[in-house]
Amino acid sequence: MLQRIHTREIGEVEMSELKAATPAILTRGSLGHLIDGKWREPASGERIDTMNPATGEVLTTLARGNADDVDRAVRSARSAFEGPWSRFTPHQRQALLNKAHDLVEEHYDELALLESLDVGVPLSRARNSKGNILRTILFFASQTMNCAGQTLPNSIGGNYTTLTLKAPVGVVGGIIPWNGPLISQWWILGGALATGCTVVMKPAEDASLTTLRTAELLLEAGLPEGVVNVVTGLGSEAGAALAEHPDVDRIAFTGSTDTGRNIIRASAGNMKRLQLELGGKSPDIVFADADLDRAVPGAAMGVFANSGQVCFAGTRVFVERKIQNEFVSRIVDFGRTLKVGDPLDPDTDLGPLISQKQLDRVSGYVSVGDEQGADLVLGGRRMLGDVANGYFIEPTIFNNVSNDMTIAREEIFGPVVSIIPFDTADEALTLANDTQYGLGGAVWSRDIGTVNTMMHGIKSGTVWVNCYGIIDPSIGFGGYKHSGYGWKGGPQHVDGFLFQKSVYINGD
Ligand code: NAI
Ligand code: MG
Repeated sequence: MLQRIHTREIGEVEMSELKAATPAILTRGSLGHLIDGKWREPASGERIDTMNPATGEVLTTLARGNADDVDRAVRSARSAFEGPWSRFTPHQRQALLNKAHDLVEEHYDELALLESLDVGVPLSRARNSKGNILRTILFFASQTMNCAGQTLPNSIGGNYTTLTLKAPVGVVGGIIPWNGPLISQWWILGGALATGCTVVMKPAEDASLTTLRTAELLLEAGLPEGVVNVVTGLGSEAGAALAEHPDVDRIAFTGSTDTGRNIIRASAGNMKRLQLELGGKSPDIVFADADLDRAVPGAAMGVFANSGQVCFAGTRVFVERKIQNEFVSRIVDFGRTLKVGDPLDPDTDLGPLISQKQLDRVSGYVSVGDEQGADLVLGGRRMLGDVANGYFIEPTIFNNVSNDMTIAREEIFGPVVSIIPFDTADEALTLANDTQYGLGGAVWSRDIGTVNTMMHGIKSGTVWVNCYGIIDPSIGFGGYKHSGYGWKGGPQHVDGFLFQKSVYINGD
């Protein structure tokens, strides 16, 4: 039995103590939407269960939002945008983000535990993300002073001054997936709060808890009511209503490419601005001269981290044929060392997948890989035993995959590596770019010429060299091709939350 203690009492504690705690939000029975600073019952009165994917048990019930709930939240966000929030100066917004940073830091153990219970991410991994999340909030705090236009030299003659102004776009709809809500919510909250926008968040139905809790902390930080609202519910109901709402100015979305297309269509009515971070099938290219002591674990965790539920996972591992046998035997050995199991156990490397639906989907891809003739050299089975009711699957490696097989073309979103041999750098590059996606990519080599060719040649928003998956919010990431558009991180991110206006002043 989990001991129920109020999480305010949790500070920097040992894993064992943390494991025995229950976040306070789970002791409230059922949860509503958070609209206009208050918990609200769903308009329909309907609820949905949210599960712990490690046990299959219901954690709590969420409000099942519909168009009426979304409309109420958007009206609250609009009136906060036109009202109290519009009077916050950039420095006040910065102070607020700094306060939010401090509260997230103070409550981080609670948030990490909540994320672990809701998403199945190993608690140790969730705790290790602390630096990344706090850095991201600080980055946005630093950007409040960058919402600035320019004065330009007069190129038209006469007594004119020309300048540009920046203004927040207004109400932002934030739609995020379940694979890492604790960080993905901040890419939207941070951008909105830095620029003076207001937000209606629609977290994924499978993982809404840390978004609700963070919104509560923002109220505690002094954010005016209505600046951040959270409507929970299904994508086809609450999500679709938000994407269509005529008074939402911008949608920031992370999720599947198919849903991204639906959002593009839904945005047409009122010409919403969009930022879409979608799927990937990222290449990870290992040359024979690479330091395999780093490349093997690097490429393995480029896929296995978060049980493969990462948009930029390096799922197509291209290996130079002359080291293929050695590489495969070493990555299989590495895969065998990974401990899959209870996310609350400090030794666990990989937790479950998020849901039965995802387990079925990933298992389906494993069967297709087998049928199409790839060599299954590790894993592939659902894991039973102690974790019988959770959605666990073994770390899985296919060797001798060809780039036209289904497992090399479609986003699997599970711990499934496809190893594809190549002979020349040209061939590696051609195969790497033969995909509809372009989110991430990496090269492992000690040769500067090879690195340079790959760095320029890989058609994706991010290329890692002798590393994988590093994200710095000051630079950020984005996508080529079907991986979406609109940059996350860096000054371009903030610019996406701003309108620009040109002003011409006639001095005569
Ligand atoms: P999804 O893209 O449908 O869900 C992401 C978010 O969009 C959730 O909050 C969902 O409620 C919402 N949503 C769904 N339909 C919507 C609609 N019509 N309008 C507005 N919002 C909507 O992804 P799903 O179904 O959870 O996962 C399916 C596959 O998508 C995964 O197997 C994976 O391949 C991919 N995926 C990719 C992600 C990434 O970061 N690249 C994240 C999550 C899923
Ligand atoms: Mg859950």
